[in-house]
Amino acid sequence: MSQGLITAAYIIAAILFIASLNGLSSQESAKRGNYFGIIGMIIAVIATIASSQVSGLGYITIAMAVGAGIGVRLALKVEMTSMPELIAILHSFVGLAATFIGFNSYLDHAVLAPAAQTIHDVEVFLGIFIGAVTFTGSIVAYCKLSGKINSAALSLPGKNWINIAAVTAAALLLVAFVSGDLGLTALIIMTVIALAFGWHLVASIGGADMPVVVSMLNSYSGWAAAATGFMLANDLLIITGALVGSSGAILSYIMCKAMNRSFVSVILGGFGTETFAQGDQEYGEHHETTAQEVAASLNAAKNIIIVPGYGMAVAQAQYPVAEITKRLRAKGKNVRFGIHPVAGRLPGHMNVLLAESKVPYDIVLEMDEINEDFPETDVVLVIGANDTVNPAANEPGTPISGMPVLSVWEAEKVVVFKRSMGAGYAGVQNPLFFKDNSEMLLGDAKASVDAILASL
Ligand code: TAP
Repeated sequence: MSQGLITAAYIIAAILFIASLNGLSSQESAKRGNYFGIIGMIIAVIATIASSQVSGLGYITIAMAVGAGIGVRLALKVEMTSMPELIAILHSFVGLAATFIGFNSYLDHAVLAPAAQTIHDVEVFLGIFIGAVTFTGSIVAYCKLSGKINSAALSLPGKNWINIAAVTAAALLLVAFVSGDLGLTALIIMTVIALAFGWHLVASIGGADMPVVVSMLNSYSGWAAAATGFMLANDLLIITGALVGSSGAILSYIMCKAMNRSFVSVILGGFGTETFAQGDQEYGEHHETTAQEVAASLNAAKNIIIVPGYGMAVAQAQYPVAEITKRLRAKGKNVRFGIHPVAGRLPGHMNVLLAESKVPYDIVLEMDEINEDFPETDVVLVIGANDTVNPAANEPGTPISGMPVLSVWEAEKVVVFKRSMGAGYAGVQNPLFFKDNSEMLLGDAKASVDAILASL
């Protein structure tokens, strides 16, 4: 394929990627956004293979067939609740690829003029550094999200100094590497430091702050890809990497604002690391209720808000929830949904589930749009949410302190659907359960909602 055609294909692919991101920004256009992304990627892969940059087509075809086979299998098998850990592990592959390409590009490249050689060395060094940090950071995120390791924050003594020392050592090694003093040895030592640094950065972050970590690693994987694009002199990879890197950074910023965390301290991995004393405070008695009683309250109510959380996803309760909504609306009741920005385990998790079960978009409201309406609400159904409705976030001294939450307790009555009195993802006990206007409907959320549906 001629160079002109390849450039044209790259430009079309880049435009499609931008259109894809644009489409993904709202539910109505998300499907279209995905198609744009798929077409853009097909064009990009064909153009790259057809370019003279590529040799060994046989190996590439075999690798793509094996990779695609594993990818399709995983994508078909993965549960919606396991998406965040799948995304985290996929980020780790980007990091690993950037690291390998960095070493390859150092060991095997054309002889360059001195200035070009320096630029190439810096690209290689940064590419491997970002790649290695992304690799181990994403693996720790995967392990925390999938419950393979404890999601509590690791708090090594002097943790901030450890991070500063790692970055300083990497900077000194960069100077030594570019000046040609240490060569491959500098690269290897830096890689070991970067692997440990990435691991420590994410391990130091506690459960409640994981949403920001996932989007931050998304951003890092983009920058790792962009660095690889520079090493391979591939413009499309630079553009794609920059798109992923900057959109991930914007998402991290939005999440930080939603969770009232400082963006700078997130990037430095220095947040969520305070150690909190585990309170053994007594909250008093909780009140339990039955599906029949809840159905009666719903029949008597005019204004109802449903607040879904991770438990709704686990129980796959979105379909009966959508059915209840339909029935209550048919009876003339004002039913709306209140969505916390970090409800569930990935950005937009609840919106996806509700859209899947055909709940109309116009009754699904963001936290800021609905939080002031709770005092005028008769009944709130909290379905498998916990941290996002925890009033302890308004008090100091807990890992979720400062995070804005849905003030469900201001409604006349709150019914909480969960299986036990246990804490949420952040491990903080929830005083909401013990309030006078709260009732617990204990059991699997889907079974409970089905029982209410039968009683309505
Ligand atoms: P969580 O605080 O995670 O609480 C979910 C609750 O659902 C649990 O207390 C659990 O209680 C209940 N549950 C689980 N399975 C259930 C089932 N089958 N039926 C009924 N209840 C069930 O939920 P949340 O309010 O959505 O908060 C999300 C948390 O995850 C936040 O801390 C957030 O920071 C974190 N996080 C979010 C993201 C993103 S991007 N959204 C990413 C990573 C982490 P029982 O065990 O007693 O049933």
